[in-house]
Amino acid sequence: MKALVTGGAGFLGSHLVEKLLSHGFDVIVVDNLCTGSLSNLESVKSRITFFQEDVRYFMPRQKTDIVFHFACPASPVQYQKDPVFTIETSVLGTKTVLEYCKAHMSRLVFASTSEVYGDPLEHPQKETYFGNVNTLGPRACYDEGKRAAETFCFIYNSLYKVPVTIVRIFNTYGPRMDPHDGRVVSNFIVQSLRGGDLTVYGDGSQTRSFCYVSDLIDGIIRIARHNTEFEVLNLGNDEEYSIIELAKTILELTGCKNNIIHLPPQIDDPVRRKPDISKARRLLDWHPKVDLRSGLASTIEYFRSLI
Ligand SMILES: NC(=O)c1ccc[n+]([C@@H]2O[C@H](COP(=O)([O-])OP(=O)(O)OC[C@H]3O[C@@H](n4cnc5c(N)ncnc54)[C@H](O)[C@@H]3O)[C@@H](O)[C@H]2O)c1
Repeated sequence: MKALVTGGAGFLGSHLVEKLLSHGFDVIVVDNLCTGSLSNLESVKSRITFFQEDVRYFMPRQKTDIVFHFACPASPVQYQKDPVFTIETSVLGTKTVLEYCKAHMSRLVFASTSEVYGDPLEHPQKETYFGNVNTLGPRACYDEGKRAAETFCFIYNSLYKVPVTIVRIFNTYGPRMDPHDGRVVSNFIVQSLRGGDLTVYGDGSQTRSFCYVSDLIDGIIRIARHNTEFEVLNLGNDEEYSIIELAKTILELTGCKNNIIHLPPQIDDPVRRKPDISKARRLLDWHPKVDLRSGLASTIEYFRSLI
């Protein structure tokens, strides 16, 4: 089997590339390195074909059986830096990828996001929930870009029978996260190891669920093996933690005694977030195995080696 991974030099993409190689896939990567890094692919660089290109305008000539479309800046700090680039990557990039899939009849696994649910009025979030998203806020370039990309997937499946699985990924963390991209897990760990204050937006009662990267990648590989014409699936951990609990757990695990300080809440920051993963459990026989404390311990070890 030949696989193409867009965004393969990023946090999730690089773990996926390694796993695909270990399952015997030939792998091509397309990545413009805007948020990713070749160092993430250091251990596999001699075994892959790499194109440093922008997925809005480029796909390789080689045919592949399956495309994992992961290219897109994913953290609020990164995706708000250049919102035009972000929405174009989601919308134009996904169209470019779908045209390639149509031409080669390749399967597409599209990395969507729990952000399509916005600040959800339904809890936990099932795949059937339409979401509650602000089209006009600072997060819209990402959230609405992914929603439009999902629509593109739906259209290409309906009109041209391109087989598509849309994966709505919930907060995932682990080694190779960028220490500077402002995601909550990396932020707290880096702040804690550097001896700074841990910055909590609002009172910290807002909740999230955190999935360790190996669990997420296991789910993606199961999706690759599950032949389907069109599917939408949540992947994430369904244990729910408040942000303040997360901060306290990280302080306990790092053994640091930093202060926790509160900053004003961020615009359109969801109050609660937790996936309903019953569909993935049923269809893929998948469930997350790594508990938060073990996953955080490995992630802290990784960040200690960087700092
Ligand atoms: N990590 C999470 O918790 C999470 C949650 C939900 C969804 N996702 C989705 O998963 C995917 C990967 O996320 P990540 O956390 O690994 O982020 P990341 O920023 O580490 O990886 C994204 C990769 O895409 C590349 N890229 C971005 N725009 C590109 C373009 N126009 N052309 C070519 N390459 C481009 C970047 O250089 C980077 O290597 C994204 O699509 C993201 O929306 C991630």
